This record gives sequence, C-alpha cells and structure tokens, in this order.
Amino acid sequence: MSTGGRPRVLLMHPILDPGPSILAEAAEVVAYPPDRPLDEAGIRQAAEGCVGIVSQLMDPIRETVLSTPGLKCVSNVAVGFDNIDVAAATAHKVMVTNTPGVLDDTTADFAFTLLMSAARRIVEADSFTRSGQFRGWAIDMMLGHDIFGATLGIVGAGRIGRGVAHRAKGFNMRILYYDPQPLPREAEEQMGATRVDLGRLLAESDFVSIHVPLTKETYHLISSAAFNMMKPTAILINTSRGPVVDEAALVAALTAKKLAGAGLDVYEREPAVHPGLLPMPSVILAPHIASATVRTRSEMSAMAARNMATAVRGGRPPNLVNPEVKK
Ligand code: GLV
Repeated sequence: MSTGGRPRVLLMHPILDPGPSILAEAAEVVAYPPDRPLDEAGIRQAAEGCVGIVSQLMDPIRETVLSTPGLKCVSNVAVGFDNIDVAAATAHKVMVTNTPGVLDDTTADFAFTLLMSAARRIVEADSFTRSGQFRGWAIDMMLGHDIFGATLGIVGAGRIGRGVAHRAKGFNMRILYYDPQPLPREAEEQMGATRVDLGRLLAESDFVSIHVPLTKETYHLISSAAFNMMKPTAILINTSRGPVVDEAALVAALTAKKLAGAGLDVYEREPAVHPGLLPMPSVILAPHIASATVRTRSEMSAMAARNMATAVRGGRPPNLVNPEVKK
C-alpha cells in the first residue's frame, strides 16, 4: 500500500505545525482511522507496512504493536513514555523517542499554578462570585493557606522538579526534595533544596508536588501510608502521572481530612476521574494540560517529527530512550 516506495509512518493523532510538514518530507504519513479503537489490536492492524508510529500518551504501544514486521521507530509526543513497553521495543530493535526539555518550564509553571490556585481557593472563589454568592466582605470568607514562606516538598528532582523549586525560591519557600538519586552538590545548591527521605518530606511539607516518571517503583508511591504522614493542612499537587498516586486512597484521605486539598492534572484511569473527587471543592481538577501552551505543544510536535524523520532516514534520533538499539 505504499506510494512510490516511500516509507510509511502512522500518525496516531494530529500534531501541531510544523510537525506535519517535517514528517511529510521524510515519509508518507498515514493517519490512524478515527473510528478504530485505541487498543493494541487496532494499532497493530493500522501499523502493518509502516516503519514508524508517532504516538501519544494514551496509545498502548506494547508487544503486539512492537512486533510489527519492519517497524523501526516509535516517536512519542510526550516526555513520559510509560505507555510504551521499552523492553519489548528494545527486544524487537525498535527505537523509542520522546520530547524532553521543551516542556519543562511550561509544566513547572502549571504545577505552580495548581499550587497557588489550590492554596488560595481560586476555582471555588470564582464559582462563588459568578453564582452571585458574594454579598460583601467577611473576615472569615474563603480562608486559604499561605504560600510565601511555606515548606514545599518536591518528589523527583529532575528538570521539572527543579523548575518548580526555581519558582518556589521567589516565594521564599523552604524547599525539601526526595529523589533516590542525590543531586550533585552544585545542582542542589542551585535548587536551594535539602534532600530528605520521603517520610520526612511528607511530614514537614505544606505542599507536596510530584515530578517522577511512572515506573514499577513509583506506582502508588503516594498511597494511604503517605497520606497518614502528611500535615492535615497540606496540599498535594500532581502533574506527573496519575498512577503514582493511589486515587482511592487520596479520596479516603481527603474525606478523613488527613490533608487539606489537591491540585491534579493527571488521573489513575484517564480520562476517568475518581467520582469521589468530583464534589470536593478543595480539589482542583485539570484535564492533563500541564504542557498545553501553543509554543510548547508546537515544539513537542516538531521534536517528535524530527525524531521520526531522522529514524526514517536511517539516522540516530536525538531523543532516543533505548540507545542500545542504534549504536
Ligand atoms: C505529558 O504528560 C508528557 O509526558 O509530555
């Protein structure tokens, strides 16, 4: 089914300019049929005859897909790649790429936006005002939590976690971080943060912000044991991946007032949101938009397209997450 012998690339979902033109210069681009389910069988069928798949985080790219004959590269338009079985890709000599770096500041901005909005009850206050309930200033109306001078616990001191710390410095926050991998002293000093174990971070922080990838080790890292350690006034922020937090345990902990609130951009079973969270005014719910700015999403699209174009032309894409496949 290829046209003029050009290599074919399966585009799972539309991407932003200049991504499409970068891809089209390198390959014949085939769009994933919108009426086909986003399951492994559907993707495998659509990927037959393709050398590449440009995927997004909701696409399950596992053994069934990765064993497609002739497949060379899966380019994920995201920094996270937990939707891809990288070990299976490596076993089948399929390169996997992601889009690191270009979304760090945008995502850190958004984590801080959630933190501030949850602390100062912005969403609640907006609905209150909009619905005509504001009938005059009151000393005890919409009391929130101070940000300036508070303690921020950052779980995961990668580029995004460090970006959140950078913002927190401007708010004179005391910054703690937990990461199994200690940062070099210079990076730690630059971050203005002290490395502690997770228990101490949870016990001392007024805000806990999560910035780890989803792996076997981080699945349900924040569960009921963690909530039992948190301050009843603390606020949890999650812009990483939903399954890092045990969502049912979060609902139970919020109901039992073991923490004061949450700002969430990601969910355990996206796009589903635990029904227990929906009526909670102390929780801000965003639809996985931490990297969603015009500039960043365009840069992610371009980077993913360049990764794929390089692979199609026989090169080594710059953002290869399994470098052992292409020496
Ligand atoms: C978004 O969640 C990403 O991983 O880029």
